[in-house]
Amino acid sequence: MSDTRRTLLVTGGCGFIGANFIRLLQRRFPSWRVVNLDKLTYAGNLQNLAGIAEGERYRLVRGDICDAELLDSLFASEGFDTVVHFAAESHVDRSIVGPGEFIRTNIHGTFTLLEAARRHHLATKGSEKARPCFLHVSTDEVYGSLGATGLFSEETAYDPRSPYSASKAASDHLASSYFHTYGLPVRITNCSNNYGPYQFPEKLIPLMFNNALQGKPLPVYGDGRNVRDWLYVEDHCEAVVEVVEGGRDGETYNVGGNNERQNLEVVTLICDLLDRKVGPLPSGQPRRSLITHVADRLGHDRRYAIDAGKIRRELGWEPKVGFAEGMERTVDWYLGNRRWVEDIVNGAYRFYYDEMYGKLGAAATGGRGDL
Ligand code: NAD
Ligand code: TYD
Repeated sequence: MSDTRRTLLVTGGCGFIGANFIRLLQRRFPSWRVVNLDKLTYAGNLQNLAGIAEGERYRLVRGDICDAELLDSLFASEGFDTVVHFAAESHVDRSIVGPGEFIRTNIHGTFTLLEAARRHHLATKGSEKARPCFLHVSTDEVYGSLGATGLFSEETAYDPRSPYSASKAASDHLASSYFHTYGLPVRITNCSNNYGPYQFPEKLIPLMFNNALQGKPLPVYGDGRNVRDWLYVEDHCEAVVEVVEGGRDGETYNVGGNNERQNLEVVTLICDLLDRKVGPLPSGQPRRSLITHVADRLGHDRRYAIDAGKIRRELGWEPKVGFAEGMERTVDWYLGNRRWVEDIVNGAYRFYYDEMYGKLGAAATGGRGDL
């Protein structure tokens, strides 16, 4: 992997995957500059990037990807050669309750970002030229739901079933059209379920961890036999780097963990790990006793599984972290960072940026969160 100088616009860098990605770049690419554009919705947390100082290598801009004026000024002043687009509304259950924000951010926001990139095109800068790249980060959920067998490949027809996956499918099509129509150097990754540090505790693994730790019921939807293909977040971030560095324009790459698990298996593993690490419940019962089957999610996709052969063959990427190791690391991280979870659950994490940015009127001006 080269360390050719790059100037990246990373959107949604205060969320789960974006923050892990920025942390990886900080460790691995000292000459890359990252501008993190994040609206700081409920899912954006400044604590995810604690310890990363603003300066030559990193700048935070609080703003909305739907804000064309802000995007124009950032493209003009920074001369990005690379866009890595993570910003999205990302939780299926929220999309069922209120799809509007998913349409706005995931479709209109991606469109606004593509338009800005088209107007400014991506610059080539630095002594060694970095190949320009617009990487749109998407999900395997665009392919719909599998039965007991089969895998999603890059050729699988789109068949999204939730407002979330439909909005991501729309954004994928828009991104692809900007390659074919305008020659924008678009690449798309469709990734399976991520897990690891800094995941917002509304998603399966951190939610179950937190409830199990506190002795609260563990709400498993339906029969709990739905299957997801779990990918450790650092492996995903490595795949994104590989596609930025060596991917082909106009191509899609599926990224998966080769780790199919039924939801019940995942939940029982969390229970068992916690019993082992912190002891059983005060009643002496194992944490598995907290599992409670609740009403199924509407339109609940049965199974996702990825064929990641293309990215392995073309770019040599493979997941490195197996499920047992990844879950051990994840549970250890959450146990070692209980304050991080508690601050989200009690809402305190909102005060960090209300204090830092509220007084500057960042929300009102739509973007002067850049200090
Ligand atoms: P997340 O919900 O944890 O973070 C999303 C981030 O985007 C937050 O920091 C939020 O503040 C920001 N954001 C939201 N709307 C914005 C807007 N209008 N303008 C600017 N910023 C905005 O999401 P995540 O889990 O980190 O997912 C990142 C991307 O990866 C998403 O595009 C998602 O669809 C995709 N993806 C996620 C998974 C997964 O398992 N988490 C799997 C496959 C693909
Ligand atoms: P989730 O983490 O929301 O990811 P996605 O829906 O994008 O795959 O959910 C993962 C699986 O866990 C999914 O099959 C729904 C299920 N689930 C539960 O059974 N209970 C819960 O409380 C949550 C949040 C999810």
